[in-house]
Amino acid sequence: MKACSNLAVLRTFANLGGGVDIVSGGELFRALRAGVAPSKIVYSGVGKKPLEMDYALKADILMFNVESEEELQLLNQRALALGKKARIALRVNPDVDPLTHPYISTGLKSNKFGIQIERAREIYLQAKQLPGLDSVGLDCHIGSQLTELAPFLEAVSILRKLLGNLRKDGVDIKYLDIGGGLGIPYDQETPPAPGDYGAAVLDLVENMDITLIMEPGRVLVGNAGVMVTQVLYNKHGPEKSFVIVDAAMNDLIRPSLYRAYHSIIKVKKGNEQSSRIVADIVGPICESSDFLARGREIDEPAPGELLAVMSAGAYGFSMSSNYNSRPRCAEVLVDGSNYYLIRQRETYEDLIRGETIPGHILEGK
Ligand SMILES: Cc1ncc(COP(=O)(O)O)c(C=O)c1O
Repeated sequence: MKACSNLAVLRTFANLGGGVDIVSGGELFRALRAGVAPSKIVYSGVGKKPLEMDYALKADILMFNVESEEELQLLNQRALALGKKARIALRVNPDVDPLTHPYISTGLKSNKFGIQIERAREIYLQAKQLPGLDSVGLDCHIGSQLTELAPFLEAVSILRKLLGNLRKDGVDIKYLDIGGGLGIPYDQETPPAPGDYGAAVLDLVENMDITLIMEPGRVLVGNAGVMVTQVLYNKHGPEKSFVIVDAAMNDLIRPSLYRAYHSIIKVKKGNEQSSRIVADIVGPICESSDFLARGREIDEPAPGELLAVMSAGAYGFSMSSNYNSRPRCAEVLVDGSNYYLIRQRETYEDLIRGETIPGHILEGK
């Protein structure tokens, strides 16, 4: 869900039998609106609020991936108050280095996510005593944009061992959720093919008598999305050249946030030739960190021409904002030679929806 949360995309995956991993009440709302079966929804995240728990309990989702002892206690209380039983997994932190950008590594001891694996058995035993909970799963998610198999396999092996011990403790684990994280090529990366990843995981979980859950995000949608932006100006400074475009960090924050690389290609008709330039490709936002690429060699674009920012399908629109009061862009689903507007371009009215000026301020009192 968090990689790309448009209803049409969610529904496409739901039609194929997919479920979703959510981290908020808003994401649950989207999942249900898109027609995802509650029995295929798992709920992760370190900060679930009581109202969000209630919403998910009433919707009867498959399971809550619990990330702390306090959350466990609160979920038990909420379930009892509603006369429900919450199916849970503990999200354990296997302390495996995913060898990725520190902002998207999540399974290290120093990360805020998950429960320390050494304490997992004890906490499952606590959960057993709580009448509002039913421990049915074991979960981890070690990070995003992983380009090696080894960290995944190390994490699954660690979970496998823990699962054996939990069963000895009488905790009946039915679901093993190994999170997402498989990387994609943005530049020169050569991540494992999904099929190889699947085969290697299956090798490890064979004979475990579990239902395997995976939470891939980026690998499903990342390379499928392109952000198209129009060139506004070319500006040649004393030290650098800039191509100023009409998309910005509010539309695609990955370069600013993670120094992420996105290939950027001039949209051309036919075989036209252009001279090459090296420039920073920047947006209109009033921040020096507002860039889509730095020091990038591209075909020199003229104002009005279009650039395609590639592999923008994951953590693109879903991380977008209205900073600088910029209406967010339209989303278009392309299927062969057909295309569909799946989110309207925002208007100025959308920007102020829900805002009010108290009467005395309006009157200047
Ligand atoms: C709990 C959880 N599951 C799955 C994912 C999806 O990760 P990815 O898009 O790298 O597959 C994330 C991403 O942050 C996550 O936090």
